[in-house]
Amino acid sequence: MSKVTVIGAGNVGATCANAMAHMQFVSEIVLLDIKEGVAEGKALDMMQTAKLYQFNTRITGVTDNYEATAGSDVVVITSGIPRKPGMTREELIGVNAGIVSSVVKNVLSFSPDAVIVIISNPMDTMTYLALKSSGLPKNRVIGMGGILDSSRFTCYLSKAINAPACDIEGMVIGGHGDTTMIPLIRLANYRGTPVCDILDKETADKVVADTMVGGATLTKLLGTSAWYAPGAAGAILVKSIIMDEKRMLPCCAYLEGEYGQKDICIGVPVVLGKNGIEKVVELELDRNEKALFEKSAEAVRKTNSVLHDMKLV
Ligand code: NAI
Ligand code: 2OP
Repeated sequence: MSKVTVIGAGNVGATCANAMAHMQFVSEIVLLDIKEGVAEGKALDMMQTAKLYQFNTRITGVTDNYEATAGSDVVVITSGIPRKPGMTREELIGVNAGIVSSVVKNVLSFSPDAVIVIISNPMDTMTYLALKSSGLPKNRVIGMGGILDSSRFTCYLSKAINAPACDIEGMVIGGHGDTTMIPLIRLANYRGTPVCDILDKETADKVVADTMVGGATLTKLLGTSAWYAPGAAGAILVKSIIMDEKRMLPCCAYLEGEYGQKDICIGVPVVLGKNGIEKVVELELDRNEKALFEKSAEAVRKTNSVLHDMKLV
């Protein structure tokens, strides 16, 4: 038996719950939202696809009722406001910090052993806030951003190379922000062949640039931020924990010296298993990548400083 709660039954939360049900790795999903009836309605709608998609996961929805979330193994937090066109993720901090800290407190009072997954933006700072405000051990607070950004990276690479995304490996580390993420183009490969041996420099640079503004491009098209890929990326992260898969995935993790950084949550490859983050993997970065990582950490720290100003950490 396994139980996952998703806080926020909006675009990302509901899509994540739906993706998890389709992936068939969890017995029970609880969706919680503060908007009366929305989580209940979406859960019921999803349950009415169980016969069609042949899944066994039980999905229930509740309005602000944390008792129903009790005993969750993993809690995914998507509550908060999304970006509007032209907005950065960082501009959401004022509203989302209050929401995330109160939600974490409520969740832990009913699921004291849960692994917490943060999706709400600005995600790196919200992960840091969740960790610091809860006092949880660092393995149990994980931010989702790198899995999404890496999937966008492989999508753009797949178009450029004209090969299926499933045959391409590409990882994005650093902060989950338009200017802070670092698509590791040097290490990206098409079934072992470096993509830099396949693409000319101009095309490779364009793939990197498109990846970095991947979220903003969608926000401009949709009028709000994206949900299919964010929801699926959240589901992949949770699956590795629930199924104890030990997958190596780029996630936002608390660093204590790795990559030369301390007291920060930022995107790095980690091994995910039943205990949450079981290992931070240190890649051999070249000088340019190291400099980009330092710059990214500096920007994340700047956003984190708002939490200090707000007296939230
Ligand atoms: P949305 O507006 O569709 O859904 C958010 C939901 O949270 C709403 O239904 C709202 O009622 C609910 N909510 C607000 N306060 C709450 C509270 N205190 N308790 C419970 N529920 C509450 O927004 P969407 O598109 O689902 O985005 C959610 C968040 O995820 C945003 O902050 C967005 O920026 C972020 N995001 C992060 C990504 C990532 O890769 N880390 C990717 C995409 C979105
Ligand atoms: C995204 O990357 C805005 O974080 C959100 O789509």
